[in-house]
Amino acid sequence: MTLLKTLSIALVGLGLLGGAAQAAGSQKPARDVSFSFEGPFGTFDRAQLQRGYKVYKEVCAACHSMHFVSFRNLSQPGGPGFTEEQVKVLAAEYTIQDGPGEDGEMFERARLPQDRFPDPFPNEQAARVANGGAYPPDLSLITKSRPGWYGTFNQLFNGIGGPEYVYSLLTGYEEPPAELAAEAPEGKSYNPYFAAGHWIGMPAPLTDDQVTYDDGTPATVDQMAKDVAAFMAWTAEPKMEERKRLGFMVMIYLAVLALLLYLVKKRLWAKEH
Ligand code: HEC
Repeated sequence: MTLLKTLSIALVGLGLLGGAAQAAGSQKPARDVSFSFEGPFGTFDRAQLQRGYKVYKEVCAACHSMHFVSFRNLSQPGGPGFTEEQVKVLAAEYTIQDGPGEDGEMFERARLPQDRFPDPFPNEQAARVANGGAYPPDLSLITKSRPGWYGTFNQLFNGIGGPEYVYSLLTGYEEPPAELAAEAPEGKSYNPYFAAGHWIGMPAPLTDDQVTYDDGTPATVDQMAKDVAAFMAWTAEPKMEERKRLGFMVMIYLAVLALLLYLVKKRLWAKEH
């Protein structure tokens, strides 16, 4: 009994038991979603990434930047699979300041595929002023920087749950419990999934049918949240499919090598027995 106790205390200490390391106080663990890109062979669903881009562009981009993504990434292998022609059109919807030209003046031109996604605000201060003091973080890497659940084993088998966190946050707005309602901070909404406490400076961004999907998928809040979370999983790891493919080849190579070594060993030692 005491041994068992000591052992479990040690495990809890190491953060190995699920739930033991609920680091962020009473933050609700993210809801599990089965995404197409999970597991060692999972790949992105192209149509879903295209829908996710639409949600980002028409809703989230009003407040959130995605510094690390260029338009041309949208047509690269392993991504949403837009054609290069489509990407030119998507980029040209925005302008960028370029120059100086021959006359020494800066000028505006349409964005090209090699340009990055535009920033909604010129600087952090402007972003805060527009959002009641809260700063809308850059979303390029958000699914890597926010775990959806805690515990080493949990993360070993389920990944860190970043896309699930984004999904749960977007669908998790609710009325605050009665005992908290009285102390609601000005301009904040109640969201039990938010990593930094229950009160978030982002008003619920999604409502049903906010975007019109080109592929006819009904744009429910749930669907849009999944699609945009998948899109962010891709922006955070654009080479995921390549990594998995390479990993698989390496495993096959090692298996063949192990078999050959075993046969060689049997042969060499055969005489000695
Ligand atoms: C009206 C502006 C606005 C819109 C539109 C908006 N957000 Fe936000 N978002 C914010 C602000 C402000 C914060 C920071 C909240 C805070 O720190 O309290 C934030 C925070 C976040 C966070 C980070 C939460 C964390 O753990 O720190 C994520 C993820 C997020 N938003 C995703 C989205 C997605 C996806 C969309 C589009 C569906 C979206 N947001 C639309 C303003 C916005």
